[in-house]
Amino acid sequence: MKGILLAGGNGTRLYPLTRVTNKHLMSIYDKPMIFYPLSTLMLAGIREIALISSPKDLPSYKQLLGSGEHLGLSITYIEQEKPEGIAQAFTLAEDFINRDSVCLTLGDNIFYGDGFSKLLKDCTELEEGGIVFGYQVNDPERYGVVSFDQAGNVIDIEEKPQVPKSNYAIPGVYFYDNKIVDIAKGLTPSARGELEITDVNLYYLQRGQLKVKLFGRGSAWLDTGTPDSLLDASNFVGTLEKRQGNKIACLEEIAYKMGYISIDTLTKNISAMPNGTYKKYLAQILKNETASVAAVTS
Ligand code: TTP
Repeated sequence: MKGILLAGGNGTRLYPLTRVTNKHLMSIYDKPMIFYPLSTLMLAGIREIALISSPKDLPSYKQLLGSGEHLGLSITYIEQEKPEGIAQAFTLAEDFINRDSVCLTLGDNIFYGDGFSKLLKDCTELEEGGIVFGYQVNDPERYGVVSFDQAGNVIDIEEKPQVPKSNYAIPGVYFYDNKIVDIAKGLTPSARGELEITDVNLYYLQRGQLKVKLFGRGSAWLDTGTPDSLLDASNFVGTLEKRQGNKIACLEEIAYKMGYISIDTLTKNISAMPNGTYKKYLAQILKNETASVAAVTS
């Protein structure tokens, strides 16, 4: 399965923060926002990734993440001339997707919770149809909303409904089979002029090929598109990191623990970093790791 990280858009709600800087480069506590959705793909076991952003912003992402080799990934960069909708990602990435299935994550969505990686990993087994998620929120009218009948079957999906039929919003991580490229090509722009991901989901739903899995109340889904949600996300990450001493979305740590890079590559990555808390954290992981390797081999 291939992965797509969508990091374009207008960032209107964050203006003037986004006047010069792309939203997904902004800080969420101690890391750029894009690290979090990238870590989502990595934890799902996806290593071939296309990052889509505007021609103006793509060079910054290349500078930040390079080829991805230092993380055991292969990162391809694709331009989105204008933000014409989330579902446009699939036509832009047609060559990249090739004959594979694909997982799309929005660059401003953060996920956290026990069992989350396993849930996503299971979805990468997808061969036919689509899988999306439902997460209970207070303000469903801001999102795509999924509603269920009494037996729990999905009956409808609506984009930003004025009167939502449920409190279940669809978060920005979606899994589709290879038909997605043709489906996206067949979409027409909505009233707001965008190719809507909700139309993709409806296409699969109407054919009985859409699974909706629920994220439980013990998991966190944060989107970071407004000044308040940006601050909330930073506070959330900061609180957990300070309490536990573990970092969320530390890419080098994840790459090593997932077996994408060797201990030598991890060491090289750390040596190239300037002194600071991020380096210190990784150096401690390396130290613990070296000690446990030594204990096993002695
Ligand atoms: P939105 O939050 O809907 O849009 P935005 O990021 O432009 O922000 P605003 O509404 O404040 O103007 O986008 C959701 C995510 O998808 C976000 O990470 C940006 C990304 N996106 C694209 O990369 N290309 C697009 O064409 C669209 C519509 C969104």
